[in-house]
Amino acid sequence: MHSPIDAIWDWSYEIEQKRLDELYVKAKRDQWNSDVAIDWTTPIDPGGKILDPERMAFLKLAFFQKLDPRQLERFNAHYSAWILSQLLHGEQGALMIAGELVAAVPDYEAKLYVASQAMDEARHVEVFSRYIRGLDKIYPVQPTLKDILRDIVETPHWQAKMVGMQVILEGLALGTFINVRAATGCALLRSLLGYVARDEARHVAFGNIYLTTEIARMHADDRVAVEDFACETTRKTVAMRRGNEGMAGFDQVLVDSDLDPGDFIASMHAEVAAGFKLSATPGNVHTLKSIIMPGIVRAGLVSDRVRPRYDAAGIKLFADTRVLEEFEDSGEVRA
Ligand SMILES: [Fe+2]
Ligand SMILES: [Fe+2]
Repeated sequence: MHSPIDAIWDWSYEIEQKRLDELYVKAKRDQWNSDVAIDWTTPIDPGGKILDPERMAFLKLAFFQKLDPRQLERFNAHYSAWILSQLLHGEQGALMIAGELVAAVPDYEAKLYVASQAMDEARHVEVFSRYIRGLDKIYPVQPTLKDILRDIVETPHWQAKMVGMQVILEGLALGTFINVRAATGCALLRSLLGYVARDEARHVAFGNIYLTTEIARMHADDRVAVEDFACETTRKTVAMRRGNEGMAGFDQVLVDSDLDPGDFIASMHAEVAAGFKLSATPGNVHTLKSIIMPGIVRAGLVSDRVRPRYDAAGIKLFADTRVLEEFEDSGEVRA
């Protein structure tokens, strides 16, 4: 992938945006060493419930209900490894984008902050790859996710990179980490997600705070490009989370679990036709509603020009920023 970015110097070394500096202070204070903070001797139980119920809701399909406990255990391990692998690939993307942003952002305090984020992401890549290898194996990147990551790498606008990474993908990751951490039966995963989610809350806070001032400063022509990027990336992300696109690659999970993908598809279609529905889990953080959309709307990226495209994609323009502001004010996740 080719990233067209300019390196911008800030020769002033002045801190102009105090809230960004406060996040940098927190980032320095909350650095952790994965070799020390996490007890890697804690066993991974592949049969244990690794993910949250929403992500496992389709286990209620008759196709899975008729499996014996050993088959179900195998499927659980492979499926969890597949989902966690996507998070791992997203972490590698975040690592590289944070590195790019060190050069691309124009403000001194923002450069210091994203440098700390790059270190955070290196740790996340390290702990997720280590955990997944202990559980099973690392699965290939899901095609829609790879497509989104390519868009973020290849856009020439650093503000678009920040919308794609800190606002959309990290907003999605933060919600996922909080929800999986609350539900997982694996103590090792819960422990590492506690550390990762705290870092992620800072990253989301940084992206949203900085973007809100920087979008207002942009030239109108450039802002149009970032508006389009935000809309298209949100659309792809929602499709990945809700639609058939998100299931690309799932075949391999079934094959690895000695299950027939054809049987699965046929059985799922029959049950969906008979009224089977995947429902959201009460108490879960609703990522799109509480984190991603309020950030995009508040940053001024939903103009009258792009609004109809969100409507056409069935994406509601949630604008309540209370949950997002909690992360921004504290820069952390409440225990
Ligand atoms: Fe991360
Ligand atoms: Fe992050």
